[in-house]
Amino acid sequence: MSIINKAAAIGGGVIGAGWVARLLLNGIDVSIFDPDPEASRKVGEVMKGARRAYKQMLPGGLPKEGKLTFAKTIAEAVADADFIQESVPERLDLKHKVLAEIDAHAPANAIVGSSTSGIKPTDMQVAMKKHPERLVVGHPFNPVYLLPLVEIVGGQQTFPEAIEVAKELYASIGMKPVVVRKEIEAFVGDRLLEAAWREALWLVKDGICTVEELDDIMRYSFGLRWAQMGMFQVYRVAGGEAGMRHFMAQFGPCLKWPWTKLMDVPEFNDELVDLIATQSDEQAHGLSIRELEKIRDDNLVAIMEALSKQNKGKGWGAGALHKDYTKQLAKLAAKPAAKADGKAKAAKPAKKAATPAKVEKPVKAGKADKAKKSKKKG
Ligand SMILES: NC(=O)c1ccc[n+]([C@@H]2O[C@H](COP(=O)([O-])OP(=O)(O)OC[C@H]3O[C@@H](n4cnc5c(N)ncnc54)[C@H](O)[C@@H]3O)[C@@H](O)[C@H]2O)c1
Repeated sequence: MSIINKAAAIGGGVIGAGWVARLLLNGIDVSIFDPDPEASRKVGEVMKGARRAYKQMLPGGLPKEGKLTFAKTIAEAVADADFIQESVPERLDLKHKVLAEIDAHAPANAIVGSSTSGIKPTDMQVAMKKHPERLVVGHPFNPVYLLPLVEIVGGQQTFPEAIEVAKELYASIGMKPVVVRKEIEAFVGDRLLEAAWREALWLVKDGICTVEELDDIMRYSFGLRWAQMGMFQVYRVAGGEAGMRHFMAQFGPCLKWPWTKLMDVPEFNDELVDLIATQSDEQAHGLSIRELEKIRDDNLVAIMEALSKQNKGKGWGAGALHKDYTKQLAKLAAKPAAKADGKAKAAKPAKKAATPAKVEKPVKAGKADKAKKSKKKG
């Protein structure tokens, strides 16, 4: 059961709308601020897709959705939120401006998560003059309403308690939080993706393969492996009976062979963009982005459902989490009155913990209490 009473989303683009969808589908009220006049329509489109995907996961019915409110300012959006997720474009100056405003108006013990793909939290929290200690990076993967991983990264000023509370908050909406041990740009997921992306750009630019051939090479082979075991466990098995040591002995020397161009970056110019974008258009065979999103979502749900039946029915990897998450949502759907009623939420003792008296260590006192109390209930 979620331990979030009221959430705020700042930015409602691809990622912000994905957060909104996950939160609403967990029965949580969300207040959103996005200056784009098209924001309401765009969020609506993502909600439609998310509902469609969740209906496949929960044939017995969805929980009553939380209420979505479009705020006119950041101040209005965050005023009574206990969890705020920032998802504005990836520019440090904009992140500073937005985080400063969130910090000035949010309740003292609200947790602030940033969706940034790679900016270090230390570099962002300098803009937060009141409570920089409650900022964490909560880096999700698209589509946020389906993919469970969230990388949590603390900055130099982040309280360890904030990381603990953030872990509980994200887990309570069906996510798999992984805390990144040391702060680096782009964290872990995007370090890996960036390496593969650069190599892929080289391979297409050099005419070794087309974008479609490269995607086929990925999705008919190691892409399938990666969905169920990660890189290291897959390679352990690939080492045969002798396991990882044999694998490393066999492939270690390749590190010195010309098997990578990763140290070298292709020039990012119009020619490269045209080459990739034109081939990508051909690959889509006329399917719109929304149509491709539906196909992607159906496939992701099918993969997670299949994995949820593995391991003697206990589920494996993302499938084990999927099994628990769908159970949690089904339980929530079974008692809509208790969850969806705003009054019932407000009456939770956890809400009372958000008092100015906790300002010294706002994150620790308010939220940790809340987490404990709500967990017992769930
Ligand atoms: N797209 C991805 O795959 C992905 C994945 C993980 C993380 N992220 C990160 O998530 C964040 C958002 O990326 P996105 O892909 O959703 O971008 P996007 O361009 O789709 O959406 C950004 C939204 O922010 C809004 N915005 C601009 N200024 C604002 C302001 N001052 N206040 C509130 N909203 C404002 C825009 O109107 C837009 O709707 C970035 O930090 C990005 O690095 C993106």
